[in-house]
Amino acid sequence: MRLGIALAVALALPLAACSSKVEVTPATEGVTDAMLIDGVEGEWLTYGRDYGEQRFSPLEQISADNVGELGLAWSVDLDTARGQEATPLVHDGVMYITTAWSKVKAFDAATGAVKWEYDPEVPRETLVRACCDAVNRGVALYGDKVFVATLDGRLIALEQETGKVVWSEVVVPNQEDYTITGAPRVAKGMVLIGSGGAEYKARGYIAAFDHETGKEVWRWHTVPGNPADGFENDAMEKAAETWAGEWWKLGGGGTVWDSITYDPKTDLVLFGTGNAEPWNPGANGRMGTEGADDNLYTSSVVAVDLTTGEYRWHFQETPEDRWDYDSNAQITITDLEIDGKMRHVALHAPKNGYFYMLDAETGEFLSAGSFAEQNWTLGIDPKTGKPQINPEARYEQTGKPWIGMPGAGGAHSWQPMSFSPVTGLVYIPANLAAFPYMAAEGWEESDIGFQTGVDLSSVAMPADEAVRKAAMDATTGALIAWDPVKQEARWTVPFKGPWNGGTLATAGNLVFQGDANGNFNAFSADAGKKLWSFPAQTGVIAAPMTYSINGEQYVAVLAGWGGVWDIATGVLAHKSDAPINVSRLLVFKLGATGKLADPPASADRVLDPPPFLGTEEQAATGSQVYARYCSVCHGDAAVAGGLNPDLRHSATLADKDTFKTIVIDGALSPPEGGGNGMVSFNKALKPEDVETIRQYLIKRANEDLALSKK
Ligand code: HEC
Repeated sequence: MRLGIALAVALALPLAACSSKVEVTPATEGVTDAMLIDGVEGEWLTYGRDYGEQRFSPLEQISADNVGELGLAWSVDLDTARGQEATPLVHDGVMYITTAWSKVKAFDAATGAVKWEYDPEVPRETLVRACCDAVNRGVALYGDKVFVATLDGRLIALEQETGKVVWSEVVVPNQEDYTITGAPRVAKGMVLIGSGGAEYKARGYIAAFDHETGKEVWRWHTVPGNPADGFENDAMEKAAETWAGEWWKLGGGGTVWDSITYDPKTDLVLFGTGNAEPWNPGANGRMGTEGADDNLYTSSVVAVDLTTGEYRWHFQETPEDRWDYDSNAQITITDLEIDGKMRHVALHAPKNGYFYMLDAETGEFLSAGSFAEQNWTLGIDPKTGKPQINPEARYEQTGKPWIGMPGAGGAHSWQPMSFSPVTGLVYIPANLAAFPYMAAEGWEESDIGFQTGVDLSSVAMPADEAVRKAAMDATTGALIAWDPVKQEARWTVPFKGPWNGGTLATAGNLVFQGDANGNFNAFSADAGKKLWSFPAQTGVIAAPMTYSINGEQYVAVLAGWGGVWDIATGVLAHKSDAPINVSRLLVFKLGATGKLADPPASADRVLDPPPFLGTEEQAATGSQVYARYCSVCHGDAAVAGGLNPDLRHSATLADKDTFKTIVIDGALSPPEGGGNGMVSFNKALKPEDVETIRQYLIKRANEDLALSKK
């Protein structure tokens, strides 16, 4: 069979040279399409468990009645202390996970014994091209292979049995502006993956690759390129009418960095697209005038044909996106009774705070409801689903700062929601947090870092007790059980802060979810009653999953606080109580009594900065430079989360030359590779700029020292 195909391909070579069509043969052994479509009892074969991404398990051995007896069966310490976002997959008694830095590990799913480990050795310098930490959300299984997409833009196929590399391809257009954090999905032999990069200079796309060879089958861009190069298809030509200026120079954004849902019923691939690039449309004039300012197909749900990658429909959730309201949250497909009729629907709760129900086959808007406080619209047209945008939210037009709700972190981001066909409810891990948007004046693109066109300096958190308290109080999170038909919340569990874990619903009337305070919890699915909790010692952001082996049900989750909320949000990163990272895989079953080793002590460090001897002018300039190039990792207003160094505490502040050696000469980024991701900024900064940052940091450290003595 294989030989036959090889021969056919060889004979067809001259033809293949002029037509790029790649023939794909679906797997007939190992993990097959039928298994992915129907599910396999006790297994978890794809990121969202089933193609519809419901994250609902029919297993019910662990139930609301006995979940109190759940205990730690086994755990594994992970070797990457950064955010852990992956959902483990289980097939044939083996568990497959990814960790930060795109490493893959396989375990005996009953005992935790390591089967194999694979490290793609992602260069740590890649961190500066990734908006949101060195995270990865998991593998795909198909045939006899495991597929992982790496932070530096490779798609790699490994042998399920051994972890050996079968093929490896760079699938991003370049490794400067594009990174990958999402989990691939596979359907009919095609491995589907997009990329991130809409804060850099990426042009969004989704692409399909042959599972046997890694050859590209098709690629569909989400935003138009330079019209002078000609459009790839009609959809791009249409989209170009909604853009202005020379948008393609910054890529345009619209990246497909998380959700990909294959629907076997319609043979469509549904995916969400990210924000337009740059955030501030005034920075490059990408938006144009009314009527030509939607910037298609950014912040949308789009459907393409699985076999050809041809455009079928789109629904734009956030036209004129200038708030980073990605529509990348997972898309769930199910059948629901609406007005007495069964409908095949797509359910979506993107960052913008609205819950959408669309017809999964046509994209027709059916209904929406706001699941989290929002102020960017004055309402939604109940017929078309189009938002009426609050004029004050157009911050580049008002010239004033806009405290947007939701903020750029989103009312709901990649943390997966789950849907229980038993309760009919969707369990949404929601963030209730604002963000101050302000247009940067005289902004220009640069060769490194974020290209958002917003001014993060003027709106940085001041060293003012009252302001900080108000912001802290207003920043919370919740687990919301949402009725998608009535478009209203059935019950809500409040959390202290945002950025809690993804959810899992089971037939045992349970919803599992970890939280930012360092607990892994079980709630009753019908009423939201907390029934069980386990101290995970670190914030949990990933989604749990469940499986069964030899008649015994397990629940597994990756623990390890991190991601964008940790690295970028400054003081607010500390709203919940467990901002330390202890990265582990935790696996539970009934009656188990395993214990975790004590967590590393988190020393309360006292600020001890050198005196501020610079000028106010230096500090003011430094604040601008810091906000543009450093705050995305070292935190808003120089207050770090738990992952990257808090520069207010850095010994390097005391010495101009040491500081410069790191920031300009790249002392922590050796030419032979290695380090932890702190690169040289010499592409954008001069020694005198770096000195202004140092002065700003010294000033900030002294301000906070004074505040702590109050
Ligand atoms: C993409 C993330 C990222 C960005 C952006 C970034 N850094 Fe870093 N930085 C790091 C990491 C990670 C480390 C820790 C490196 C290590 O320990 O090897 C670090 C370490 C440092 C250190 C050493 C701290 C110490 O005491 O050990 C300094 C100084 C520093 N960064 C300054 C800056 C400045 C100034 C900027 C902006 C121009 C910046 N960084 C931007 C990730 C980043």
